Formats: sequence, C-alpha cells, structure tokens
Amino acid sequence: MKKKVLLMGASGSGKTSMRSLIFSNNPASLTSRLGATIDVEQNHVRFLGDLILNLWDCGGQDAFMDSYLSIQQSTIFQHVGVMIYVFEVETRNMEKDLNYYKECLSALQRYSPNAAVFLLVHKMDLARGPKAETLARKTKELKEASEGTEVTVFGTSIYDESLYNAWSRIVHILIPNASVLSRHLAKLAALCSATEVVLFERTTFLVIATSTPPPPPPTASNVPSGPSSARTNGDLSATSHSDHELEVDSDPHKMAPTRYERTSELIKAFKYSCARVREEFNALEMELPEFTAVLDELTRNTYVLIVVHDPTIETAALRMNIRLARPKFE
Ligand code: GTP
Repeated sequence: MKKKVLLMGASGSGKTSMRSLIFSNNPASLTSRLGATIDVEQNHVRFLGDLILNLWDCGGQDAFMDSYLSIQQSTIFQHVGVMIYVFEVETRNMEKDLNYYKECLSALQRYSPNAAVFLLVHKMDLARGPKAETLARKTKELKEASEGTEVTVFGTSIYDESLYNAWSRIVHILIPNASVLSRHLAKLAALCSATEVVLFERTTFLVIATSTPPPPPPTASNVPSGPSSARTNGDLSATSHSDHELEVDSDPHKMAPTRYERTSELIKAFKYSCARVREEFNALEMELPEFTAVLDELTRNTYVLIVVHDPTIETAALRMNIRLARPKFE
C-alpha cells in the first residue's frame, strides 16, 4: 500500500530540512548545508509492514512551481494522499506564497479531491511576536486563503519537538489500523501494569499509536467557540472545525501533551550520537526512583516504549512481555 505525500512550499521555507531530520536522522544543525532542491526528489519510506510513504519533496523555486502547475500538473497532483504545504512564519512574500498555494490547492482538488491538506507555519523559532498569537493569526489567514477547504495547521520548528508532533499527526491519518493498534497497546499496558505504552516507527521515531484512552467527548467547556476559532494547545496546533476534525480530535495524541514527540526527538538525537561513535542503537532501559522505562524493538518497523510506576516490576519482565506481544503486532 503506497501513500503519496506531497511536500510543497516556497524555496527556503524548510521542506528538505524537515525531511532530512525526520527521515534521514540528520541533526538540525546540519540543515544549513542543504542545497536547493532541483525539481522533485522522491523518497520511499517503508512505514509499518506494507505501508510505504512515497514522499515527493518539490523544490520551491518559481520556475519549478510554474512547471508543477502547468506541464507537470497531472503527474504531481494525481494519487495524492496528503499535501503538506510549508509557509515560513516571517516570510516577506506572503502574497506570492498564498497565490502559489491557492493554485496548488485547486490542482489538488482537480486530481486528488480526497487528499488531506496540512499547512505548516514553519520556523516558529523565528516568530517575532508571542508564538501562540502569531500562530493564531497565521492560521486565520491560511484558512481564509483555503476558501472552505478543510485544512489542519501546525506551528513547527526544526529546533523543537513541534515538528515531530505535526508529522506524527500527519502520518497517523495514513495508517489504516491505528485504532486497532491503540487497543492492542492498551491491552499490553494493562498486562504489564504500565502507566502507558507508546509505539514509534523505527526509522523516523514518529509516534504511531499510544495506549492512552481517547479523551472524553467534547463538552460545552472544551469545544471551540466557532468555525474559525484557532485553538492553540501546548503543541502549537490548530485545526479547522468540521466533521473531519472530529475524527482527528478523537486521536489521543491531539490532546496529549507533547512528551511523546519530545521522546521522539531525544531518541533521534541519541541514535545520532550512537552513530557518531559507530555504535548501533538497539534498546534502552531506565530505572529511576520515580519510574521504569523500557524501549525495545517490537516488530521490524516499530519500537515500543513501556513506562511503569511500580518499582516492583523488573525490566526483564517488561522485555519478556514485549517479546511475547510481538506476534500480535507483526
Ligand atoms: P527548496 O529546496 O529551494 O525548495 O528549499 P527548502 O524548502 O527545501 O528549504 P531548506 O530545507 O533547504 O531550508 C532552507 C534553510 O532554512 C536552511 O538553512 C535551514 O537550516 C533553515 N531552516 C529550516 N527549518 C528551520 C527552522 O525551523 N528554523 C530556522 N530558524 N531555520 C530553519
């Protein structure tokens, strides 16, 4: 099962940087050495068994954009599962960026009307004003430009876990059996007397599913006030208010704090350090007075993290349970 993901946006907005961080394990500090992308660079990432992400990183220079929107239009925009459009938070060319975005959106609607659209307000670390306010303002502007098309907006930066949060959410909608995975994880958590169990994809360390039960149904106090209201929880994300959003809202890590994504970021940094000293990262165990955590391979494509707060539970027992649970997840 192949899912095409389009990564688009102006030249220099940070597309290749995020791709190299998430899919190639490179640290943020090396992204300044990346050259401009010429035309389209395609990557195939095997993601969970037979799910393959076919990532199209589309170089953002005007000449390429013009070509995507004319002679290459059908090639670029057909069979798309997700379009991710990247905007720099402090761009000086917002008008031009929006014009290209609108043209891409209408080409997408023509060739892949069912594709999901994610907009990243990127380089949030460079935002001049308070981040939440800046994101809310940008979200409003982008939703107006989307003219009724359902879009999900995230504020991101390669220098913190916000990028993992956005990408985990994006790939989450491409995973067909995510709720089944969550149920299995909840069972594993119960069997291990664990506080929580989190499933990560092996290469990217993006969060695939968690054992955390879905949040309670919305009540009057936690429902946003109107269609264009931009909600900014701690993870700098905001979604449009629609049927689709309800589906995304029931996703546990929408509401959960970003500690999962922080974990992704830390493990990736640790893996990078291991690679630098030519050691291979296999598994991790932490035994602290407050909690015990075990991170181990679950299947060929996943790692699982089990966190327990019961000091009588041995890490060896947790690892044994992971081994026994493997066939369920293969
Ligand atoms: P094209 O390939 O021409 O389309 O550009 P691109 O969108 O792929 O941009 P690229 O990833 O090459 O990034 C351009 C510059 O932005 C690099 O110097 C990155 O280091 C920098 N950059 C990327 N993400 C961030 C971020 O979150 N914050 C800051 N401050 N800089 C970033």
